[in-house]
Formats: sequence, structure tokens, C-alpha cells
Amino acid sequence: MHILIIFLTVTLASLAVSGSIDSCPGYVAGITGKSATSLTANLTLAGDACNVYGDDIRDLQLLVEYQSGNRLHVKIYDAAEQVYQIPETFLSLPSGADAPSDFPLVFSYVARPFSFAIQRRDTRETIFNTTGTNLVFESQYIRLRTSLPEDPYIYGLGEDSDPLRRPTQNYSRTFWNVGDSFLPEGSNLYGAHPIYIEMRDGKAHGVFLGNSDGMDVKINNTEDDGQYLEYNAIGGVFDMYFLAGPTPSEVSQQYAGIVGLPAEVAYWTYGFHQCKYGWQDAMELAEVVLNYSRANIPLETLWTDIDYMDRRRTWTLDPERFPLHKIQELVTYLHDHNQSYIMMVDPPVSLNDSKSYDNGLKYDVFIKHANGTIFVAAMWPGASSWVDWLHPNAQRFWTGEVMSFFNPKSGIDLDGIWIDMNDPANFCPYPCADPVGWSAANGDPPAAPPVRTIWPPLPGFPEDFQPPDSSTTVELSKREITGNKTGLTGRNLLNPPYHINNTDGPLYANTIWPDLSLHGGYSEYDMHNLFASGMITATRSALVTRRPGVRPFIISRSTFAGSGNKTGHWTGDNASLWEHYRISIKQNMEFASFYQIPTVGADVCGFNLNTTETLCARWAVLGAFYPFYRNHADITANQQEFYLWPVVAAAARSAIQTRMQLMDYFYTEFHYQTVDGIPRTILPLFYVYPLDNKTLEISLQFFYGQSLMVSPVTEENATSVTFYLPKDTFYDLFTGEKVEGEGEFITRDNVSYAEIPVHVRGGSIVPMRVDGANNTKLLRELDFALLIAPDAHGNATGRLYLDDGESLNPTETSEISFTYSTATGKLVIGGSFGYTTSSKIVGATVLGESAGKSSSSKERRSGNVVKLDRPLSEAFTATL
Ligand SMILES: *[C@@H]1O[C@H](CO)[C@@H](O)[C@H](O)[C@H]1NC(C)=O
Ligand SMILES: *[C@@H]1O[C@H](CO)[C@@H](O)[C@H](O)[C@H]1NC(C)=O
Ligand SMILES: *[C@@H]1O[C@H](CO)[C@@H](O)[C@H](O)[C@H]1NC(C)=O
Ligand SMILES: *[C@@H]1O[C@H](CO)[C@@H](O)[C@H](O)[C@H]1NC(C)=O
Ligand SMILES: *[C@@H]1O[C@H](CO)[C@@H](O)[C@H](O)[C@H]1NC(C)=O
Ligand SMILES: *[C@@H]1O[C@H](CO)[C@@H](O)[C@H](O)[C@H]1NC(C)=O
Ligand SMILES: *[C@@H]1O[C@H](CO)[C@@H](O)[C@H](O)[C@H]1NC(C)=O
Ligand SMILES: *[C@@H]1O[C@H](CO)[C@@H](O)[C@H](O)[C@H]1NC(C)=O
Ligand SMILES: *[C@@H]1O[C@H](CO)[C@@H](O)[C@H](O)[C@H]1NC(C)=O
Ligand SMILES: *[C@@H]1O[C@H](CO)[C@@H](O)[C@H](O)[C@H]1NC(C)=O
Repeated sequence: MHILIIFLTVTLASLAVSGSIDSCPGYVAGITGKSATSLTANLTLAGDACNVYGDDIRDLQLLVEYQSGNRLHVKIYDAAEQVYQIPETFLSLPSGADAPSDFPLVFSYVARPFSFAIQRRDTRETIFNTTGTNLVFESQYIRLRTSLPEDPYIYGLGEDSDPLRRPTQNYSRTFWNVGDSFLPEGSNLYGAHPIYIEMRDGKAHGVFLGNSDGMDVKINNTEDDGQYLEYNAIGGVFDMYFLAGPTPSEVSQQYAGIVGLPAEVAYWTYGFHQCKYGWQDAMELAEVVLNYSRANIPLETLWTDIDYMDRRRTWTLDPERFPLHKIQELVTYLHDHNQSYIMMVDPPVSLNDSKSYDNGLKYDVFIKHANGTIFVAAMWPGASSWVDWLHPNAQRFWTGEVMSFFNPKSGIDLDGIWIDMNDPANFCPYPCADPVGWSAANGDPPAAPPVRTIWPPLPGFPEDFQPPDSSTTVELSKREITGNKTGLTGRNLLNPPYHINNTDGPLYANTIWPDLSLHGGYSEYDMHNLFASGMITATRSALVTRRPGVRPFIISRSTFAGSGNKTGHWTGDNASLWEHYRISIKQNMEFASFYQIPTVGADVCGFNLNTTETLCARWAVLGAFYPFYRNHADITANQQEFYLWPVVAAAARSAIQTRMQLMDYFYTEFHYQTVDGIPRTILPLFYVYPLDNKTLEISLQFFYGQSLMVSPVTEENATSVTFYLPKDTFYDLFTGEKVEGEGEFITRDNVSYAEIPVHVRGGSIVPMRVDGANNTKLLRELDFALLIAPDAHGNATGRLYLDDGESLNPTETSEISFTYSTATGKLVIGGSFGYTTSSKIVGATVLGESAGKSSSSKERRSGNVVKLDRPLSEAFTATL
């Protein structure tokens, strides 16, 4: 949800010293150790210190390691090892030199002034070369620049709303997590992912900088310096990994080898989710559930934003609008109907929530000033303190709150947690000497809506959901503020000499102060971008404690490199704009493929502003091809549940039916990405066709799994779409029509609001459920039919992964393979069959072939439709 206060501070101070940084002397290297797979050297300042942004650090160390997984690790750090490095508990970066001898990358260096280059062993292509610009390593600024070929194809370096392929001139990407809404272009947003992927002549390589400090990454092309990419960070070290590819998929797989494989999520989470900020009370939640059911649109999961809280305090319920007994009855109702429930949790603990705040004090887990005083600022609930995720008691505190508030018996038996405002957001502007007074003066928390006395009857819901209501008011205990109100004195950590181009202005704007102390001697300055990582880890661990053995489901607004190992992400506070509908496509591709956070989705129909019927209809259909599919709107926007317009309802019904039929196909693709890190969920076209350079700038089409290419209508009022069809064999998913791609753009007309062009890639076999269902539990009982899409040689393969859909470590799994050849007419089904299911394979359609004798006229796809009746418990071969 959005932040109400936006700083308009403009920072130009970095200009004052620019120029002198280029006179810094650089370093001279002296080799201290060398083996076939590693190198160490001393780097000593090569002249007089320039001390532009803090003091030059005289003695550095260089470590070079050829690592298995086709990673080259290059680390430049201070010899005294006092400069901040990411703590291992937050992100454990691999070390060691264990590469095979035919390592694909070669490191070389120049001793004075020190520079290094990375080349491909086979072609001698230079992919990184720092020659020409001196390394700068100061106490509050580090810089490294690589030259690049003209007009490079660079991707990654998010989170942002800029083009998928990065501009190559005068472009700067800033990493400093902020909670701004409306996805402003050119700005830093909620997450920091310092990995880039470069495509060069059909080959890909990647560069990851393991550094969590604030930074600007600049891409530019100037007369003096040519084309370059430059890192400018306000702290930390150069802990870099060069990923050899050579395909984009392999780069992503190698990246997963550094930051971890993505977490698998439960099957039900692929169902359709509905949320809205501003639903007034428990009855309105029930009404939404009922309306979806009446409209015959399968609603899998209901969400509640901060409305449920008592005056916006996490770990409390509004006693009048969302009393515990009603939420419990609602959750029971949902569970009885195979539906799920998720609530929002914000990081700060309200001073007025005496129970949780006292627990925090007892465990001593709140972030403190350098002098040991607990830091107090303000967020939704007013005056609050923030958890120091580094504190050894933080997990115990957080698990305790989760176990108590979400206790299945005495609390709320929810199914997943939505973590927001963890950039982290703070509303009270610096120095916030009086958070309580500031909160009162700024009307924070906003007044709750009036308690409703009249609402429609809710058949099927328990008695006390029926009007009129008689909820009781609970007396709340008041608590005096314990923080100090004397204001802060200025320090480097607040206003570092190098100003990154933070869209909110100073580092302390709209967040907690960078000069705060964290447990173990860390400071918020260095770990700002890791705040969410701490909260994600604690939340995941708490959920595993709460439901042992079950896959936790978390959606986090803020993320850092590696977050996909524990959480999913929604792309924050977008708006109901066609531009944001389009941006969502590239954001999904980036998170799922580049950043390894494949559980991703944008707020369908748009969060801010009022949506329109046609935008919502198209978005309902596009969203059905996001991994995470949720409709959500702001409190200031009109309601936008799908059933509110007939056109949208029809589009949603059709889209959800398709999504459900494809759910096991996608679940299978997702599963294998969690196993080997190869992107299989949402992919840019160039991941599938890396040798086709026409795919390099396509950001409005994507692959949904490796077999289906989706080409949505992307313009308001348009009923046609012009899209790229690579040189390959394709089949229309819905009609079965064969289309030979020529590597050209083609136009599809008459795309109704319930439709979206989807093409099956030749060579694929897509297992589909025979129908949709009211919910994923019923869906899992349906049979399968295979969609066989032969390639130009008449061959096709596919697979199906089955398990119980929710266990962290399922013991019974099936990994079923499908192979078909037109030449033999044989469909071969093999693999392992450990998961017991009553679902069978009841048919197969060979696309592009004329109907055979057993074809059924009911089949809407053209092709040879064959009836089968085989259990999913053993291998078999059928002749089609
Ligand atoms: C490297 O630097 C360390 C610490 O400054 C010093 O002890 C050592 O002698 C140096 N080694 C070489 C080979 O220069
Ligand atoms: C790095 O760049 C310098 C300056 O352009 C050039 O002389 C050198 O050959 C390059 N090194 C490699 C390995 O490409
Ligand atoms: C790119 O280079 C031009 C020319 O030197 C300079 O004016 C501009 O500020 C640079 N842009 C960035 C983002 O560094
Ligand atoms: C996190 O990544 C590690 C290393 O890749 C992997 O072993 C682990 O299974 C991942 N965690 C989850 C929940 O997938
Ligand atoms: C607040 O700050 C003042 C001035 O630094 C100090 O005298 C006082 O002890 C502090 N109070 C608390 C509760 O820390
Ligand atoms: C500790 O530091 C904070 C921030 O500078 C200040 O507000 C507070 O008064 C200080 N507390 C004490 C006890 O000095
Ligand atoms: C700084 O960021 C703003 C957006 O917040 C952008 O408009 C501007 O171009 C950026 N400046 C540079 C030098 O990158
Ligand atoms: C949304 O629509 C409502 C009434 O339908 C109107 O009051 C409100 O101003 C609209 N909001 C915007 C941002 O246009
Ligand atoms: C794309 O490939 C073609 C054929 O190899 C080549 O002529 C063209 O220059 C390439 N375009 C880009 C943008 O790399
Ligand atoms: C789309 O159609 C509506 C209704 O006719 C119209 O108000 C709107 O301006 C159109 N938008 C565009 C981009 O043409």
C-alpha cells in the first residue's frame, strides 16, 4: 500500500566533487598466491589518497576463484576485513575454487594500475574489462567500471519499471529499497537485484555483485570513455560472480547456484486470489466470497489488507469490524469450501500494542540508536519500533507472535502471510523527534470506516454474519511512549558524501534511519536493502513451525538477491493503467527468470486509481498467466471484483478455466525450476530463442512454461494484437491450428475480451486437466488429456510432476515422461509413478494431424483426437 508522504528533496551534492574522483591513483597488484583454479594478490594504493567520498583504503586483497557451476568469483576487499560484507545468515555467497580444468572463462589482470578482464576461453571474447578507469575503494564509496561493446543488450538490475532491455546511454539504476507507489519510471523501487545478464551474438553471460549497500549502476556511452557499465556503491566490497552461460537459461541456473534455488509453493496457491484495501468488515468479506460463488467464478483465496487491524496495529483485530469469532467462522467457512485465507503483516510493532510491544522489549529485539536507545518512528499504527532481524531473539519473538495471533484454535487459522511495508517504510520524517505527536497531528492511523449496522443477508454463513449485528467493543490498554524525543545529530551514515540517486532524496527519507545500530555491530546504512530478507526468513521459519512439513506461502513487497529461496513477490502498488498492464509483463519475466523469484504477479486490474471494464477484462485474462494471480485495489479506488461487470466476469471465467486446465503443466514447470534453477515459469522470448536476435527487445510477449507462448492484446480498445512468431512450428492452444513461424511479426484480429492468443511450441506435450473446477482441490480429482504438438520432425516430448501439492518434502512423487513420434504413431509414457492418484489419462490430441477414426466431435481443437483410459500408475505405450 502506498506511502502518503513523498519527499521532494533534490540531491545535487555529488556534482560538487565530481571530477576529482577521476584523479584517484588506483591500486597496484602483487601476487601472493596462485593455483590452477585460484589467485590471490595484494592491492596497494598506487599513489596519494584522493579521499573524495571518505578515505581511500590503502591495502586491499584480491581473490579469484574458478568455481564449479561455471562461476568465476572475483572478490576485492579491504585487507583488514573491517568493511561491511553481507552476513552469511542473510545470504551465504559461495567460496572455494573447485572448477574443472576446462573452465570456460579466463581471468587476466594488469598490475599497475590494477585492472582485470574476463574472457571466454573458447572465443577469447572479452566480457568484462576494467582497464582504463581506476578502481576506487574509499570508506564510503567504491567504484568499478567495465567497458562494453557499443549498444549492448543488458537485462536485469531491478526492481524498476524501466524497459526490459536496458537503455545503453545516460542510464542509471539505483539500489535503495523504497515503498513508492505508481511504479515511477527511472526510479528505484521495492527490491534490489544487482545481477545483470548480457546477450552478445546469441550467447549470454551474467555478472552478479554481492553487495547490499546503496548504489548507482550507470550505463553510458560517451565520447571520452566509450560504452561502459559502472558500479558506484556507498559501502561494502566487490564480491562479484561472472556467470559463463552460454545460454540465458544457463546464466540463470548458475545464478541460482549462488543465491539459492526458488522455493516451491503449494498447489492451491495457483488458484485465483481476491483482495481489496478498504473492505469494511467481516460481513463484506463474506459478501465477496458469496458473490464469487454466485457468479460462478472460482475464488481460491480471500485476502485481507490492514483493514482487519485495530487502528492499523499488526497482531491485533478491529474488535468491531473484524472480531475474532467472526474471522474464525469465516476461515472455517472458507476451509469447508476448499478455499484459503491470507492476511497482511507489517514489520513495525506499535507502541500502543502493549502485548506485542512488551514481548519485543522482553526479547530486546527492537532496532536501537547507536547509544542503545530504542528507535521509535511512525507507520500505519502511529508510533512504532522495528524488529532487528539480526538479533538472536528476533526469530523467537516473531515466531511467538505468529503462533499466538495465527493460532489455529485460539487465533486465526490462516494459510499464508503477506508481508508489506518492509522496504522498510517509515512515515515520520527525519528527525521525527516526537513520533507520537507527529502521528496525532498527521491523523495516522486513518479513521476506521463507520461500523455498519445494515448489510445484505449472507446465506450459508453463520448466524452472527446475518444482519443486524451486535458486536461488542473491547477496552484497549494504553501505553506510554518509552523512546526519547531529543532529535538526532548529523553523521556520515545519514548523509554520505556520495549521493546515490535515490528517488525519495536522502537515505533516511520515508524509511528508518541509516545510522541505526543493528545487533552485532551492523548498521542500517549497510543493511537497509536486506531488511526484507530478515523479515522473510523469520516469517518463513515461523510458518514452518506453525505447520510443520507444509510449504509456507509468503508474498513480500521488498526483496533482495536470493529472496526467491523463501518468498514470492507481488510487484507492489501499480495503478489501473494500460501502461502498468504492459509493465507487468516485463516485471514477471524479470522476477521469474532473472531474479529467481518465480512466484510473482502484479495486482490484476490495477491497485491505484479506478479501473475500467475493458482494462479489467484484459487484465483478468493476462493475470491468469501470472504465476501468482490476484486482483487487488486501493482503498481510494472503486471495488473491482471480477463479478462486477458481465464482460469481466465472462473473461475471468474463461481465463480461470484455462489456467486450471494448465495448472499441472505449470506446476510441473515450476517444480523443475526449483530443482535445477533453469527458468521454466515466465520467460522472455530470448530465453527460448537466444539465437534469434529479433527476440531481444520483445517485452510484451512471454513464455508461460517452456511450451506456451502468450501474446496478449496490449492497447486500450484494441481487438487485435501484432506479435512476433519465431521461426518454429506453433499451434494455437485453443483451435489447434498449425502456424509455421517465419521469424516475423503477425497480426491477429478479433480477439474478444475473453480471449488471449496462446501458442503451443512444436515439440511439446502439454498435460491438461479435462476441465476447470470450483477450486484446486476438486481440480486435482479430474482426469488428464494430452495435447501433443509435434515439431518439424514430427516429434514431441513433455512431462508431468505429481505430488500431494503441499508437503515440503513429499515422499510420494511421480515424474512422468511423454514421448510421441509421428513416424511411429506411438505415444510412450514412462518415468516413475510414486504418487497415488485416481486421475487417469483419458485422451490425447495430436495437433496438426487430420482427425482419426476415434475423433470426437465435441473436441474443439482440430487434430487427431484419440480416447485413452490409462491410470497414472504405470508406463505404457499407445498407438495413436
Ligand atoms: C601482502 O600484504 C600483507 C599485508 O599488508 C603483507 O603482510 C604481505 O607481505 C604482502 N605480500 C606481498 C607478497 O606483497
Ligand atoms: C581491455 O581493454 C584494454 C583497453 O581497451 C585493452 O588494451 C585490452 O586488450 C583489453 N583486455 C582484454 C582481455 O580484452
Ligand atoms: C553520461 O555521460 C554524459 C556525458 O559525459 C553525462 O553528461 C551524463 O551525466 C552521464 N550519465 C550518467 C547516468 O552517468
Ligand atoms: C534454497 O536454496 C538451497 C540451495 O540452492 C536449496 O538447497 C534449498 O532447497 C532452497 N530452499 C527452498 C525452500 O527451496
Ligand atoms: C533522553 O535523552 C536525554 C538527553 O540525551 C537523556 O538525558 C535522557 O536520559 C534520555 N532518556 C532516555 C529514557 O533514554
Ligand atoms: C540516543 O540517540 C538518539 C538519536 O540520536 C537520541 O534521540 C537519544 O536521545 C539518545 N539517547 C540517549 C540516552 O542518549
Ligand atoms: C535520478 O532519478 C530520477 C528518477 O528518480 C531520474 O529521473 C533521473 O534521470 C536520475 N538521474 C540520473 C543522473 O540518473
Ligand atoms: C473513482 O470513482 C469514484 C466514484 O465512482 C470517484 O468518486 C473517484 O473520484 C474516482 N477516483 C479517481 C481517482 O478517479
Ligand atoms: C541480428 O542478426 C543478423 C544476422 O546474423 C545481423 O545481421 C544483425 O546485425 C543482428 N542484429 C542485431 C541487433 O544484433
Ligand atoms: C477507448 O474507448 C473509450 C470509449 O469509447 C474512449 O472513451 C477512450 O478514449 C478510448 N481509448 C483510446 C485509447 O482510444
